[in-house]
Amino acid sequence: MTGVSIIGSGYVGLTTGLALAELGNNIVLLDIDPEKVRTIRSGQPPFYEPGVSEMLSEHLAKGTIRATSDYHDAVMDSDITFIAVGTPMDKDGRMDPRYILSASESLGKALREKNKSQIVVVKSTVLPGTTRDLVRPLLLRTSGRPISGIGVAMCPEFLREGSAMHDSLHPDRIVIGCSDDRTYSALEALFSPLGSKVLRTDTTTAEMIKYASNSFLATKISFSNEISRLCEAVGIDVYDVMEGVGMDKRISPHFLRAGVGFGGSCFPKDVSALLHMAKGIGVETPIMEGALRNNDIQPIHLVDVAERLCLTLKGKRIGVLGLAFKPDTDDIRESRSIPLIRELLKRGAVVSAHDPEAASNFLNEVHGIDIQGSAEPLVDSVDVVILMTEWPEYRNIPWEEKTHLEWVLDGRRTVEPARMMNLKYWAMGSPLP
Ligand code: UDX
Repeated sequence: MTGVSIIGSGYVGLTTGLALAELGNNIVLLDIDPEKVRTIRSGQPPFYEPGVSEMLSEHLAKGTIRATSDYHDAVMDSDITFIAVGTPMDKDGRMDPRYILSASESLGKALREKNKSQIVVVKSTVLPGTTRDLVRPLLLRTSGRPISGIGVAMCPEFLREGSAMHDSLHPDRIVIGCSDDRTYSALEALFSPLGSKVLRTDTTTAEMIKYASNSFLATKISFSNEISRLCEAVGIDVYDVMEGVGMDKRISPHFLRAGVGFGGSCFPKDVSALLHMAKGIGVETPIMEGALRNNDIQPIHLVDVAERLCLTLKGKRIGVLGLAFKPDTDDIRESRSIPLIRELLKRGAVVSAHDPEAASNFLNEVHGIDIQGSAEPLVDSVDVVILMTEWPEYRNIPWEEKTHLEWVLDGRRTVEPARMMNLKYWAMGSPLP
């Protein structure tokens, strides 16, 4: 049983902590936000994620997880510390390392008083070079300890929201970036019960693996969306096309689902951060620029189609189903519903919306819409429905009866087209009506 402390109790921190607790370790979660610490202690995760609440209560009861806001307490009770604080985008789309730097500094100061060696692992998504050039020197300077006293590593996280616990416990691979053998062996032993493939590399390569993976996946989606607009115009279905494309082992069938675009806390932010870094060092990145541009085009394209089909959007009552960036989360960050609804409002539509989890988060972001508590009454009260998040409950609406609707436009292939035969239904990526 290893003592592990985790700085930052957000998505990555809490799920990493729970996964390591499941593997039989003793976890101290640290957060500088006392409110977060309080809610975690009471068994409430500070975000919605399937399975997390149950697992948290179980480990709190067993005493294998606890939460604190005191660095000294966390460090004294652990041999390995993960840094899992946020790396948000600043207003220009660059990575803001502020929290990484403050966490490293506080950690370094706490380590000053510890006379045993400590392993520090960066788990936050940070630009290539951050661990080597910023975190490590800062830890050494603030702790006043020799290089041998602190082992530094970088292990990127690849979990998806909505399946975070599953992904943490069954990762495709574990990347351990570090240069000293002692640190590597300790981390390999920590992760070995997962039984996943381990790749050993240096910290900067590990950091780039994370950015390259997310940029590649985002590009795959954007590429499908580009082909999707072509398919619509040519009069064929992009899903039939991608079925054939994905049968090629070199391509794989995953992440080829065309639709209204990608959202979330990772893809838009990471692609943007990487291309800003590239610009800063004079490297051209037309593919990543294109991935973001395509993602901006998709929601506006959906509004264009809606306007063409309805002749005008002025005064049109439009119901948007789904505000979260994907199902099983209350996260609306970079959700494509944000630009879509803003554009609908700009063109004079009257918008009402529904989401089973994300409605209140959405109201903080976009004003001028009516949020409804249930989906079916909303469908009954509008002229046009736009499906934006493929929540399973939207499939259970008795669509066959909703013949009053002028159009149902599906941005995510949420419902079976066969059920929509007697309605005017169009799914993105299918022939334009
Ligand atoms: C992603 C990565 O998958 C994960 O490895 C990384 O650690 C963080 O970013 P996440 O943002 O939780 O995870 O969501 P994901 O399930 O990957 O979906 C991201 C967005 O892409 C969603 O808006 C989703 O609807 C969209 N998407 C995904 C598509 O439009 N088409 C696809 O084929 C796949």
